Amino acid sequence: MACPHANVEALLSELQPSEPMLCVWPDRIAAQLRRFQGGFPGEVLYAIKANPLASVLRTLCAAGLRHFDVASIAEIEAVTAIRRDAGLFFHNPVKSRDAIRVSASLPQIHSFAVDHADELAKCMAETDRRDIQIAVRMATQRADAAQDFSTKFGAAPAEAAQILRAAHQAGFACGLTFHVGTQCRNPQAYSDALAACGEIAAVAGVPLASIDVGGGFPAAHEGEIVPPLETYFDAIGRSFRDLHIEGCRLLCEPGRALVAQACAVLVQVVHRRDGRLHINDGVAGSFGELSFLDRRVPARLYRRRGTDVRGVDGEPTTFTLVGPLAFDTRDELPGRYALPADAREGDWILLGELGAYATCLAADFLAYRQPLDATVAEWPWIDARERDHAA
Ligand SMILES: Cc1ncc(COP(=O)(O)O)c(C=O)c1O
Repeated sequence: MACPHANVEALLSELQPSEPMLCVWPDRIAAQLRRFQGGFPGEVLYAIKANPLASVLRTLCAAGLRHFDVASIAEIEAVTAIRRDAGLFFHNPVKSRDAIRVSASLPQIHSFAVDHADELAKCMAETDRRDIQIAVRMATQRADAAQDFSTKFGAAPAEAAQILRAAHQAGFACGLTFHVGTQCRNPQAYSDALAACGEIAAVAGVPLASIDVGGGFPAAHEGEIVPPLETYFDAIGRSFRDLHIEGCRLLCEPGRALVAQACAVLVQVVHRRDGRLHINDGVAGSFGELSFLDRRVPARLYRRRGTDVRGVDGEPTTFTLVGPLAFDTRDELPGRYALPADAREGDWILLGELGAYATCLAADFLAYRQPLDATVAEWPWIDARERDHAA
């Protein structure tokens, strides 16, 4: 994909933005997709909710991705506007009747996830189509993940078996799906969940058309050592083969791990006070997840010199970065940031590793607008920071 900006300096020199901007490195998204497609022992979908930006979806489609996990009609519209024949897996297990009806009218819909008998009943009432697969979402054991999803979604094993049987009797092809929790640091969580799938299918006595292991694959976030993705792929492949289920497809639907490392947010320093830099974005904007997960990101300072903007690498000191909210004392990024000691108003800071669950979580508070985005070719971090040793 052609990138309008050669590097961050060129982007800043041309635009000198006074609003936050999202920088996207399409090459990194494409490389991570190749890594998944080359290593995962099944089919790869993208969970659009992690980052629904058109440039991200365009990059994935151009790199050959065909199948997507969607959670809303708006996501369906976003991806089919780019790829008309996108295969859609509506795997949010709780859906409105409208969402079921509208999505079922589209030939691109392959699958609905459900995790309760009432949700299956809704699907049966709202569409006559029986060529849409039903993927029963089962709850998983709590794993070492940044956020557990099974407290909210997923049927217990006996219930999952009952839903499978009911869907099968209603004439649907059936599968199982799960989500071990986002940023899951333990590949064994997938193996345990796959073993549970085998038990549920045996209890239900229903042929499984597919098992979708969901998302949860970790990104190598700053300050975290996570196993390489290949360890997950191997564990999943082994555990899936151990099930010996004839004719069953294996799928995954990563969000975070595909896009997290491929975007950064450019903010401007609007004020300096002692050890604090006030920036023009905060927890109600691009940094909600950083605050929620108590996570830090890499940072780099840029400054205007004449008409150009350059990176600054002066003697560092540590700063607290605070956002624009007045009433929320927590509108500050977790941790302290080592930046050149003379950082000042008007400088820009590039904050990395914000490709997933960042700008898409921004609220309208303070009439905040979704940041503009721009694609960039050259990667700005000198020490490439590939901590998941497999890259
Ligand atoms: C159904 C489903 N699939 C996939 C994902 C993507 O998860 P992750 O970003 O952890 O890979 C999510 C995240 O919420 C999800 O709910």
